[in-house]
Amino acid sequence: MDIRLKTFEEYEAAYEQAKNNPSEYWGKIAENFQFSKKWQDVTLGDFTDGEIRWFNGAKLNITENCLDRHLETRGDKKALVYVANDPSEKNQEFTYKELHAQVCKTANMLEELGVKKGDRVCIYMSMVPELMFTVLACARIGAIHSVVFGGFSAQALAGRIVDAECSVLVTNDGGLRGTKVTELKSIVDEALKEKDCSCVKNVIVHKRANNKVTMQDGRDLWWHELFDKASDKHTAPQLDAEDPLFILYTSGSTGTPKGVVHTQAGYMVWAAYTFANVFQVDPGESSKDMYWCTADIGWITGHTYITYGPLLNGATTMMFEGVPTYPDAGRFWDIVEKNKVTHFYTAPTAVRALMACGDDVPAKYDLSTLKVLGSVGEPINAEAWHWYNEHIGKKKCPIVDTWWQTETGGILISPLAGLTKTKPCKATLPLPGIIPVLVDDDGREIGETMAEGKLCIKHPWPGMLRTVYKNHERFMNAYLRTYKGYYFSGDGAKRDIEGYMRITGRVDDVINVSGHRFGTAEIENAIGKNTAIAESAVVGYPHDVKGEGIYAYVVTDLKDEAEVTKHINDTIIKEIGAVARPDKIQIVSGLPKTRSGKIMRRILRKIAAHDFNNFGDTSTLLDPSVVEEIKEGVK
Ligand code: PRX
Repeated sequence: MDIRLKTFEEYEAAYEQAKNNPSEYWGKIAENFQFSKKWQDVTLGDFTDGEIRWFNGAKLNITENCLDRHLETRGDKKALVYVANDPSEKNQEFTYKELHAQVCKTANMLEELGVKKGDRVCIYMSMVPELMFTVLACARIGAIHSVVFGGFSAQALAGRIVDAECSVLVTNDGGLRGTKVTELKSIVDEALKEKDCSCVKNVIVHKRANNKVTMQDGRDLWWHELFDKASDKHTAPQLDAEDPLFILYTSGSTGTPKGVVHTQAGYMVWAAYTFANVFQVDPGESSKDMYWCTADIGWITGHTYITYGPLLNGATTMMFEGVPTYPDAGRFWDIVEKNKVTHFYTAPTAVRALMACGDDVPAKYDLSTLKVLGSVGEPINAEAWHWYNEHIGKKKCPIVDTWWQTETGGILISPLAGLTKTKPCKATLPLPGIIPVLVDDDGREIGETMAEGKLCIKHPWPGMLRTVYKNHERFMNAYLRTYKGYYFSGDGAKRDIEGYMRITGRVDDVINVSGHRFGTAEIENAIGKNTAIAESAVVGYPHDVKGEGIYAYVVTDLKDEAEVTKHINDTIIKEIGAVARPDKIQIVSGLPKTRSGKIMRRILRKIAAHDFNNFGDTSTLLDPSVVEEIKEGVK
């Protein structure tokens, strides 16, 4: 299979074809995959009706495309290389044949427990190979996986379990990250005590950290006991192109996190196509290319670019259990050297954190195998971009700054490695099939080349979300109704004279902390659960390492700052997880509100960023003296 564009001219031609005749273009691309029944229509629906379908009527199994189809051509090629937290622990390696067998065993194990097509399986695991097996096993059966990041709390996990009504949960005893053990199984126990979590009939527990766990009779089962006796043969059922593949929860500007739903065929084509073109990994059977994405499978990046994208292409994908700073700040570079990594994909926050450890750290390692560097999750600032380019890529590796979202399924705007001329901090040009537009506040397209506006996408693309789980209205409102006829990303962008895009960050009430998305409302609701806090307003502010930090203004009768911080941190850790703890907390006597009771976040954002000028129109403020007091408090 070769869906790869090899020159910039080929990219330009593909872009035109996909724009002028999407059905013809994507129909041709989809010919490269294994379908047991061909589609009747390549694409149906638009952003007005929101009923989007791709490859309508086709039948397939995505895991046959990830695994079975490669067995003949590259059965003995490494599919997955697993690097453990402890550097002295040997890598685990799985060839395509071996990974296929593990996934078949896992699928049989789940089926033995009664899991069938359409059932939801919650996966709450640390980065162990069994996490990937479980994801693929669900996909093979047609069960819908809902992976919940291991850093989320029992409450957050429970909310996701209830929303998706999961019947089985797969976890491990504990997760190993650096020197810490995350007690995943006890968090699961805690979550399952919550109301409505009784939908979970079985919990499968994989043993990793060997920490003590309590097993509940009749509900909890050991992975190894089931897995060892499961057969490694499994016939993949054929699913409809638009059957759901997975749910992944993500934060928006309002309410609780949304269950983003991706479906089979469109997601498959998009994951494979974007992986092939953006990274340009050589997928050949004897290729030594070693692709490493440092994300966690709990996020969309780990779904599309650790799991599905690389495997669909027959590439070798690496998975890392630990953290960048354990046992020391050279760990990433040590892994690159030891495993001869050729393609390295990480987040700007990691680059900034490692940059702060000094240039001499990466200088100690042989990074000469690297060919392509990637960036994802947040805007990359100039300093980090140049450091990455000079100290890691030695100025010979193109940096692909990939812009996309949980909702988009895969990359939408990015250089294609080696094909597109890069510019620091720019995500550059759209992939074929993507028509990005900038709109003003009234939703009018800004036509000129050089412009700044809100980033929207004009036509459906194969990999986009189809709905919000059990809430199509919310899908319509969040993405398709803000600017009629467009998909609204929630991001702002600047376009330069050559049409290159620079993504400037969220323009809604979403904060991007180290590439993790949180809604301000979500954090405020969590803080509100603490009875000692009367009211709060949360905003993002520029943070040197995290990109954005969380700034909480709180109204409380408590006077002692340390006590207030403890109250808030404890509540956040309980409700969401430690990752959402505020970086700064300011006690205030009141919040700046309009006469109609709306908090003026614009002012709070400015104060948090230490920008004390140009607050704009404040004439609608109920009590302007509050602003003065808050300003004084910060200074
Ligand atoms: O604000 C954008 C930022 O991350 C958001 C999407 O977050 P999430 O759904 O968690 O997915 C992260 C991984 C794809 C976007 O709305 N973002 C992502 N990539 C970039 C980015 N901002 C700037 N440049 C990027 N390359």
